[in-house]
Amino acid sequence: MSRSKLKHLAIIMDGNGRWAKQRGLNRTKGHEKGAEIIRDITTYCAKQPNIETVTFYAFSTENWKRPKLEVDFLMRLLDNYLKKELVTYQENNVCFKAIGNMEALSKKLQERIKTTQEATKNNSDLTHILALNYGGRAEITRAVNELIAKGKKEILEEDISTALQTPYSDIDLLIRTSGEERISNFLLWQLSYSEFYFSQTLWPDFTVEELDNIIEDFEQRNRRFGGV
Ligand code: FPP
Repeated sequence: MSRSKLKHLAIIMDGNGRWAKQRGLNRTKGHEKGAEIIRDITTYCAKQPNIETVTFYAFSTENWKRPKLEVDFLMRLLDNYLKKELVTYQENNVCFKAIGNMEALSKKLQERIKTTQEATKNNSDLTHILALNYGGRAEITRAVNELIAKGKKEILEEDISTALQTPYSDIDLLIRTSGEERISNFLLWQLSYSEFYFSQTLWPDFTVEELDNIIEDFEQRNRRFGGV
């Protein structure tokens, strides 16, 4: 039996708040440490010949319900992250993309996203996607409305797949950290045939070594895609 190949990895990073609480710290410290882990995992993925894309759930459409101070902090962290990480993207030949509804983000952040995408668009070892103000249902609804606006009378699965913001490929493996076992409106269409791995580790404690073990586990799995 051939080993399953991991091309597109998706991660729901969960547990930043609990990590901080366990240490008597403000929740924002958990997010700060969490952002560092994104850098480690992205750099690792860029070095793996099979992995083409890694998609992180950084901010959901539901995350606006958090206290304003935390939301503002996350937005600032994101802006600083992209500013700082441009060097890492260039050094590791990583192409950056954002998915989600950008219109609700500040003009400054939208500009930062645009310039980072533009500066890294020819990098080819890895595509690093951040889902920001993202919701899976919203993404599918937007795609269908776009097809209707184009005058489509009958919509095929392939039409929706290509109209999504993430038409690059289906997800092979989804990891969620912190022991929670939910999809939380992430990449609903693209996860149809994914393998799932739920880790007990809180995101700020997640390591490249654990990811390596999870990939080893994934490669042993027998993916049948509905066949026998
Ligand atoms: C969940 O932890 C995490 C998020 C809100 C999204 C992930 C955000 C980061 C890793 C930091 C910012 C990202 C970038 C790209 C700079 P939680 O707060 O829900 O944790 P809890 O469930 O323990 O409260």
